[in-house]
Amino acid sequence: MWYTDDMDGELVHKGREDMRHLARRLSLLLPSLLGEEPVRRGRVQLLSSSKHRCVSSVEAFQEGLHLQAHLSHVDYSHRVDDQLLRSFERCPGYVEGVEKNHTALAEVHKFRDGQEMDGVRTKVADKLGLPGHSLTADLLEAAFFLCSYELAIKSQHSPWCFLFDQDDAQVLEYKLDLKQYWKRAHGHAINSLSSCPLFHHIFRTLDKAGRPRRSSEASPEPASILIGHAETLLPLLALLGLYKDQAPPTADNYHAQHGRTFRTSKIVPYAANVLFVLYDCQRGPRLQLLVNETPVRFPGLWAEDAPLYRDVRAAYRHLLDGCDFHKECHGAHGGRGPNTEL
Ligand SMILES: *[C@@H]1O[C@H](CO)[C@@H](O)[C@H](O)[C@H]1NC(C)=O
Repeated sequence: MWYTDDMDGELVHKGREDMRHLARRLSLLLPSLLGEEPVRRGRVQLLSSSKHRCVSSVEAFQEGLHLQAHLSHVDYSHRVDDQLLRSFERCPGYVEGVEKNHTALAEVHKFRDGQEMDGVRTKVADKLGLPGHSLTADLLEAAFFLCSYELAIKSQHSPWCFLFDQDDAQVLEYKLDLKQYWKRAHGHAINSLSSCPLFHHIFRTLDKAGRPRRSSEASPEPASILIGHAETLLPLLALLGLYKDQAPPTADNYHAQHGRTFRTSKIVPYAANVLFVLYDCQRGPRLQLLVNETPVRFPGLWAEDAPLYRDVRAAYRHLLDGCDFHKECHGAHGGRGPNTEL
């Protein structure tokens, strides 16, 4: 076993590389915001969650920016802000209502014990020559994780992967998506509302950048980079109303969910990223949203790649005027049913 205890929760070498490459691509994509000039002048603001792997990520990101700016020496300059990037753990309504609440993830447990997972369990046990009952759903999932980690971290076609065919992998993928849906996304309103501080921070930053200035005023930072977790991004994307399919994924509709847009392997892969890019245009600032470096349209503003910023604000008016972290998180625990309004 090459995976040792001290690797737990740490960023692997491949992860650092991913972040360096991401920084270099973004610098090329947006030279006036992340190119040589703003980087040399130290104008890029960087925030990270306190987790060691995030701090490693924000360092690697800066290394990428510096490389791209032909600077050999990197003065790391980031701040830690868990208020913004790990707000979910400070939200009692979320912690009590979902994270510690067994019934909030009922669909996940039902699927784990259901016929699709059972089918995979039997097939894999057969391959291994084990009696069916000795291979639990948890062990099956552990084997699947080992397969995917060895592929992702070491670029190996891991022997663990021989245990699964494409159909099996889709069942296990669905189980992970179910979990993320009910634990971090649209499944419960409080999941996304726990990211209200981040939502407001983003729009405050954009407001500041888009506001007309007197020539004597200092210009705001050209770019603000925040480094957190998949568990930070999913609630934010859910709050923005993205990747919300007509019917929620449940334990019973695996086949009907085949074409779902809520696919976490696509939405939050390693080095997942969301960019809000503000453009100075003739009729006023325009905002483009990119998820994993691909343009994505705002719900309700499907017609335009980069709608007017004021139209985006109007579309999210209910959140800009509300989305009160304190009210949502310290209100009655778990008083909210499944999210039906966003
Ligand atoms: C746990 O979750 C269920 C289902 O979402 C909900 O009805 C219940 O109120 C929650 N319990 C607590 C203590 O929040």
